[in-house]
Amino acid sequence: MALAPQELENSASKFAEEAIRLDSQGSRGMAIQHYQGAVESLLKLVRLYPDYKLNKIYVDRAKTYQNRIKALQESRGFDESDNTLTPHNGNSGSGSNSRSYGSVETLKANFDDLILKEKPNISWDEVVGLEDAKRALNESIVYPAQRPDLFPLGWPKGILLYGPPGNGKTLIAAATASEIAGYFINVDAASMMSKWLGEAEKNVAKLFLMARSIAQKENVPVILFVDELDSLLGTRASEVGGEIRVKNQFLTEMDGIVTKSKDLQLYVIGATNKPWSLDSPFLRRFQKRIFISLPDIVERLRMFKLYTSQLHVDGNLKLEELTKIAEGYSASDIRDICQSVQLRVVNELFESGKANENDAETRYITTNDFKDSLKSRRPSVSAEMLRAYGRWTEQFKAL
Ligand SMILES: Nc1ncnc2c1ncn2[C@@H]1O[C@H](COP(=O)(O)OP(=O)(O)OP(=O)(O)O)[C@@H](O)[C@H]1O
Ligand SMILES: [Mg+2]
Repeated sequence: MALAPQELENSASKFAEEAIRLDSQGSRGMAIQHYQGAVESLLKLVRLYPDYKLNKIYVDRAKTYQNRIKALQESRGFDESDNTLTPHNGNSGSGSNSRSYGSVETLKANFDDLILKEKPNISWDEVVGLEDAKRALNESIVYPAQRPDLFPLGWPKGILLYGPPGNGKTLIAAATASEIAGYFINVDAASMMSKWLGEAEKNVAKLFLMARSIAQKENVPVILFVDELDSLLGTRASEVGGEIRVKNQFLTEMDGIVTKSKDLQLYVIGATNKPWSLDSPFLRRFQKRIFISLPDIVERLRMFKLYTSQLHVDGNLKLEELTKIAEGYSASDIRDICQSVQLRVVNELFESGKANENDAETRYITTNDFKDSLKSRRPSVSAEMLRAYGRWTEQFKAL
């Protein structure tokens, strides 16, 4: 009988954890065996579940382990004069050879790959609508950052943004960081769970430590943005390594922010499309829970205006009409529609053979171009999904 993906992930993760431990201690033979176990579980997982969304990461991970196996086999060949393992390449010294395959250090160093640390440059004004969310973020981040003395009881440190894809969760989190001139540390929980096979728990601790030390040393607000937060809970297949321990580590770190780092300007913004998969210990630590909804009619009009402002559009463009047709479309759907009509006129220009003539322009984009584009794509969020968000919001929102 086939193993469930979760079992294979767990098995890969246990092998990997043990392999890295053995490797660090210098037990090469045993480490190789364990790396092989991890590779086999990962590849089996990919074969059995070819459509699984994390497969690319698993394959990368398997390759990394395979490279490490090669490096270990080679250095073993040189060091122990074990002829069967010695590569047939007489030119290069053992040192350079094993280095070319990455060391156990590079396996551990994956931490940095997954973290984006930056000072974003996105203003509030670039985020259309989402007034509730802006107000809540002002109250819990922007104001406390300016006048912490006005908040003797503290302020919320955990903020959950939830809602259908493509309506500005990531965008508004980045804009908040830029509003307070702070650091924005961006991690994706799904790849964190899978890439840090067997090390996710440790890396969660490291992540918070890093956030805390930036806030302390540079004395600036730090926003730790955890995307796809639901993956940390590992309900079913997205869980890799450390199972419940990763989640508990995260919860402990969140508590630490409220108690130990009370006066630090350190915030955790979590984002998810699946708020219903978060359990109550999680929810409790996100004191603010903000629904990032689809744009309403007014917001859609503003988005159309924003995105068409740089396009060569017909003076009689019926934006109001388009806005009505676009009911149910997300912000990123609208951006994509505007992009696709632009592509259409650019294509026409190229096909006419005039694109290379000096100052040849695209024709004006008309209302019908937009209508065609709207017809050819469905909204990316279903009515059923919207009802699910509505039900969850009734029960759990906290503005
Ligand atoms: N409120 C908005 N105002 C203006 N543009 C927006 C808005 N929301 C989304 N967009 C556009 O759509 C893109 C995708 O939005 P974003 O990545 O913030 O969505 P998300 O809610 O984080 O989606 P996901 O759940 O898939 O992560 C943005 O980069 C921006 O171009
Ligand atoms: Mg996002």
